[in-house]
Amino acid sequence: MTRRPAVTVRVPAKVNVQLAVGAPRPDGFHPLANVFLAVGLYDEVTATDAPELTITCEGPRSGQVPLDRTNLAARAAIALAALHGLAPDVHLHIAKDIPVAGGMAGGSADAAGALLACDALWGTNTPHDQLLAICAELGSDVPFSLVGGAALGVGRGEQLTPLPVGGEFHWVFAVADGGLSTPAVYGEFDRLTAGTAVPAPEASDALLAALRTGDATALAAALGNDLQPAALSLRPSLAATLAAGTAAGALAALVSGSGPTTAYLVKDADAAQRVAEALRASGTCAAARPAVSPAAGATVLTR
Ligand code: C5P
Repeated sequence: MTRRPAVTVRVPAKVNVQLAVGAPRPDGFHPLANVFLAVGLYDEVTATDAPELTITCEGPRSGQVPLDRTNLAARAAIALAALHGLAPDVHLHIAKDIPVAGGMAGGSADAAGALLACDALWGTNTPHDQLLAICAELGSDVPFSLVGGAALGVGRGEQLTPLPVGGEFHWVFAVADGGLSTPAVYGEFDRLTAGTAVPAPEASDALLAALRTGDATALAAALGNDLQPAALSLRPSLAATLAAGTAAGALAALVSGSGPTTAYLVKDADAAQRVAEALRASGTCAAARPAVSPAAGATVLTR
């Protein structure tokens, strides 16, 4: 067989500008109104022909990424190969820049990247809706990693409607020491809301309007994350990080998804540099990364 050239796919991180969480469904998942925004921090997944499925990973804390078939990227390759009656004989190399277990959908990004990279490597030309269906089976956030931009996710977050975004938004992301387990954060949400009437999740009209018009001040006022109290309960030190970003002039601060990464919406690129510098100097986070949104979804890189 002639050797095919390797394929590299770039995939963005996400921040949830609104994460409205309802009471758990019978299957344990929570109904969501989840407004995803893709941000310009990227992982790259490279697929190369190989005798069997193998994974390598480089980048900050890449030692915490599983290199066996439990890795979501491996599961994506296996699912795509099964759909086409192929063996998943591929080497996947993941260059990580998205914080590991950080609430920015890094694992989901790698799954979406592996799916697109294998589809291109194998020439399987899978229709977009079938790729999306595989993504939804792999995890609630994976479909969004494929499409990027901005979208409202309902159901458990996997049923997407694209949203218009009227301008660029500037952010800083404070990376925490260590990760948080998403199921643990949802479990803490259930503990904290036990005995209360949890309202059905609904997207905020003010937030959708702020995205549509590209108005950062209006977006700052409308940001919301129902998982934030749970993430803060499991990681109380995040309160000091949020306070440091706010004191440095961020328009708003919130936990990204299930955390522990925290997100700071700022006015412009200069403000992003200032807030990032102040967060680093505060000693309350491991790293502070400016990034711009929206970002494109998973994209094959031509080299
Ligand atoms: O879908 P995904 O595998 O990414 O979800 C990881 C975990 O997060 C689930 O096992 C569940 O504990 C929790 N989750 C949830 N409700 C959602 C999405 C995720 O409870 N809508």
